[in-house]
Amino acid sequence: MKSTRLHLHVCPACRSDRLAWQDVGTPVPEVIESGTITCQSCDCRFAVRGGLPRFVPEDNYAQSFGFQWNLHARTQLDSHSGMPISHDRLWAAIGGKVDMHGQCVLEAGSGAGRFTEVLAASGADVVTFDYSSAVDANARNQPASPRLHFFQGDIFNIPLVEASFDKVLCLGVIQHTPAPQAAFMSLAKYVRPGGQLVVDAYTRNLAALLQWKYVLRPITRRMRKETLYKIVEVLTPPLVPVAKLLRRIAGRLGARLVPIVEYSHLGLPPRLNVQWAILDTFDMYSPAHDHPQSLSSVASWFEAAGFENVSVRHGLNGVVGSGHRPVGANAIPAASANTGTTATPAAITP
Ligand SMILES: C[S@@+](CC[C@H](N)C(=O)[O-])C[C@H]1O[C@@H](n2cnc3c(N)ncnc32)[C@H](O)[C@@H]1O
Repeated sequence: MKSTRLHLHVCPACRSDRLAWQDVGTPVPEVIESGTITCQSCDCRFAVRGGLPRFVPEDNYAQSFGFQWNLHARTQLDSHSGMPISHDRLWAAIGGKVDMHGQCVLEAGSGAGRFTEVLAASGADVVTFDYSSAVDANARNQPASPRLHFFQGDIFNIPLVEASFDKVLCLGVIQHTPAPQAAFMSLAKYVRPGGQLVVDAYTRNLAALLQWKYVLRPITRRMRKETLYKIVEVLTPPLVPVAKLLRRIAGRLGARLVPIVEYSHLGLPPRLNVQWAILDTFDMYSPAHDHPQSLSSVASWFEAAGFENVSVRHGLNGVVGSGHRPVGANAIPAASANTGTTATPAAITP
């Protein structure tokens, strides 16, 4: 990372903006590849590795995501598929394509960066992070740009200045945190007055809860990720044609009779369709957390945060919510839900 990017961050432990490279007085290189960031207020130290600042411990509940996104770093990128799948989902969630030049956008839970590349192309200044090592895959996937900044961090304690982003986007993430409402409330704090918060989450309804994954996850999420991946990699390809056939006969519910995820309806080329199926089947069975949400729960979060122009609807990936923080808004109320994560972020020994 460019050392000038240090000023974007605050200490996640004490919220001070007095972060310094190494120890005070050490000459600061223009580009920081590895070393330590020190908080001059509370003395917490955070690692810089692979050119990215790390504000969370390596060993965290999102490790399966780091594994999958580094293995399938480009699988779901529009630049790889040649199809505007992420482009269309992102702009639909925002509510239409807009000129983002001059806007500051925060992307939470980037994965390998399928939306980061769309945001980067929009002209916005993008700050993007993930709890897992997926952030490394994302940084490798994007061409170097002075308008892009990556770090490894936690939605529940984002090491950035509050109320400073024109848009905060969080797609496909909230249900994978231990406390979705608390995650939402945390994200809301980073939206500047007048700015927009956009989230989507898996839908909670009877049909969704009857999926195979909720039967099998109590076992699969406890398996070694490498073992689970091998099983998924072997079993998924022969099931893809079966799921395709059942989709043709009985639509989405038909496809769900098979215990894999399958995307033939998106029109992907066959080999890539199998890669998507392997990736998303693993993504379905491996995460530590999967807490789908109803329209009414997401709507109630926007209301609790005091947002306006709220739209909560069924969209391309479940429940999609968008709202604006009122100009002259008060502080965002804290969520009552327990985050399940530690209150103190990782002060890491690099
Ligand atoms: C299903 S993936 C979605 C990634 C990306 N948004 C996409 O749609 O391709 C969920 C991502 O959320 C990240 N995540 C989960 N909990 C998080 C947290 N507390 N803070 C930041 N990221 C988190 C995971 O590491 C994972 O990369």
